[in-house]
Amino acid sequence: MENRLKALQAMAEEGLRSYFTRDGEQKLLYDAMRYSLLAGGKRIRPVLTLEFCRVCGGNMEKALPMACGIEMLHTYSLIHDDLPCMDNDELRRGKPTNHVVYGECTAVLAGDALQASAFDTLLSADLPAEAVLKAAKELTHAAGPEGICGGQILDMEGEGKALSIEQVNNIHRLKTAAMIKAACRIGVIAGGGNDTQLEAAEKYADSIGLTFQIRDDILDITSTTETMGKTVGKDASSGKNTYAALLGIPECERIIAEETEKARAAIMDAFEEPDFLCWLADKLAGRKY
Ligand code: IPE
Ligand code: IPE
Ligand code: MG
Ligand code: MG
Ligand code: MG
Repeated sequence: MENRLKALQAMAEEGLRSYFTRDGEQKLLYDAMRYSLLAGGKRIRPVLTLEFCRVCGGNMEKALPMACGIEMLHTYSLIHDDLPCMDNDELRRGKPTNHVVYGECTAVLAGDALQASAFDTLLSADLPAEAVLKAAKELTHAAGPEGICGGQILDMEGEGKALSIEQVNNIHRLKTAAMIKAACRIGVIAGGGNDTQLEAAEKYADSIGLTFQIRDDILDITSTTETMGKTVGKDASSGKNTYAALLGIPECERIIAEETEKARAAIMDAFEEPDFLCWLADKLAGRKY
């Protein structure tokens, strides 16, 4: 399973390297885009897209532009998340953040351009027009007010305030789970899956999406800056609302275990070969970085 994960990550990595290979007069912008996009990262979202495509009987190569588009959009969200006006972070993927290297103006534009390029790339997929349209709609939804942007505004507004667990859950659902859901659903769409499979992928994603952010928040408390490749301890010092701060780590671990079981159960009967996705849910639940 580890080898399979590595192979899918390598496929995503290679796909990403094939974009933005020309410079022109906007070299500075391309440099800044490539800097963050090719700085590493776990590539979890494209891996999910590729694998969901495969378990639906689709051709992963054809889904690759969609998987890469999703990772571009995710990378844009990280560049903007790190800006001084947002989380004000100086380390990402083990390197100085985009604005530290290129300045704020270029970092904002690199994020904007990666978001636009995400759609450009997804739309270039050689798949039936109906599937491409459906996938684009998924990504649009996950990026906007009902997704990342909506979650990020609530995350910012909530700083230093005492939110309820329902409110924190809603932030996680929007800022993190929405994109993971898009990655999974787009995989099913690219693979020509049916409605039952689309629904199963959505349930799986809801659970792993929530646990992904809960684990991120736990690691912000328990891990080190070196292991994470980003500065830890920031959530507490910024007054962020997290599951860990609200419920404590043992209760978070219980929720993670419960949600991971739900994720596995959701896909078990919908796909012929759910093994890797089940393993991945466990792997992400217990991830160390
Ligand atoms: C970080 O995402 C932001 C969250 C949603 C917690 P990842 O943990 O997937 O970051 P990379 O892509 O591996 O750097
Ligand atoms: C997720 O939350 C951010 C995005 C949706 C971009 P965090 O702010 O906790 O992510 P990290 O910890 O900076 O990666
Ligand atoms: Mg943030
Ligand atoms: Mg952040
Ligand atoms: Mg975090």
